[in-house]
Amino acid sequence: MKTTNLSARLDTFARLNLIETATPLQRLSRLSARLGRDIYVKRDDFTSLAMGGNKLRKLEFLAADAIRRKADVLVTAGAIQSNHVRQTAALAAQLGLDCVALLENPIGTDRDDYLRSGNRLLLDLFRVRVIDVDGLDDADRLLEATAQRLRDEGRRPYVIPIGGSNALGALGYVRAGLELEQQITATGLTFSSVVLASGSAGTHAGLAVALAHALPATPVVGVTVSRTDAAQRPKVQNLIERTSELLDVETPPDTRINLWDEYFAPRYGEPNDACIDAVRLLAETEGLLLDPVYTGKAMAGLIDGIARGRFDGSDPVLFLHTGGAPALFAYRDALRAG
Ligand SMILES: Cc1ncc(COP(=O)(O)O)c(C=O)c1O
Repeated sequence: MKTTNLSARLDTFARLNLIETATPLQRLSRLSARLGRDIYVKRDDFTSLAMGGNKLRKLEFLAADAIRRKADVLVTAGAIQSNHVRQTAALAAQLGLDCVALLENPIGTDRDDYLRSGNRLLLDLFRVRVIDVDGLDDADRLLEATAQRLRDEGRRPYVIPIGGSNALGALGYVRAGLELEQQITATGLTFSSVVLASGSAGTHAGLAVALAHALPATPVVGVTVSRTDAAQRPKVQNLIERTSELLDVETPPDTRINLWDEYFAPRYGEPNDACIDAVRLLAETEGLLLDPVYTGKAMAGLIDGIARGRFDGSDPVLFLHTGGAPALFAYRDALRAG
């Protein structure tokens, strides 16, 4: 399968065209000097709506499908500080659709900044109808029950799974991967790895599909943010298979899934010291804002990976910045100057 075919396959899917130009690929010179290894960053925190982030790439495809189906309300779910819910809500507002969100408190906190500031504050601006739930272990069933209630009221709901991570959403990161391949080719460099946060897995799976076809020598390393390798691997593998199926392309072999699960403790939504150190280091050396839930942990993995020689050779390492900085305002205590 040639990349051009992958690109042609992608073009057969309706897309909103929210991300008209490529997000920047930048060299982080002061961080590179500090770590003794060249680091580049793909700025998907710069996508173009409501403080940006990776979910808009998935929503380009998902929301196009919602419009095609004449939906009038987007229904989704996530943590109180979910970046995914914030981006879904902003896009619903832009499209003139309503948004209903099921929100859980995954760390059981009663801190006011977590419950009211950061992403949660923005949901009120977007006039989201928030439904607080005890947990989202059974999210698909809860989402469907909510959609059914809306249908009973005469509405036309469109359900977007947690993180926008189904095969259609993952197409956003197949597209991002092809965009990245062109940018990498333009640099004339080869990269040792692409590192990203692996959560609901759509970003990881989509990028893995694209790079398996377009840059097969460049591994994708997913730093897990919520679960062990054993629990995350089948999620990524399954989504790679379903995304390939949707695109009607060959599924890349299982060996392409690299997961590092040493950096997410104590659990999803709770930063550890290495994560906070990474957030601080990037702010201090580059003026670049990571987040305390996803990209801080992924960057902690990258930094430790360099220190421990986990990346092959000496080629530069590429970090996919998936956004999330609005959540900084929900973690004041963890971030206070140390
Ligand atoms: C800032 C940020 N980075 C990374 C991720 C993980 O992406 P995915 O859920 O596609 O694995 C998320 C998911 O919510 C996110 O908000």
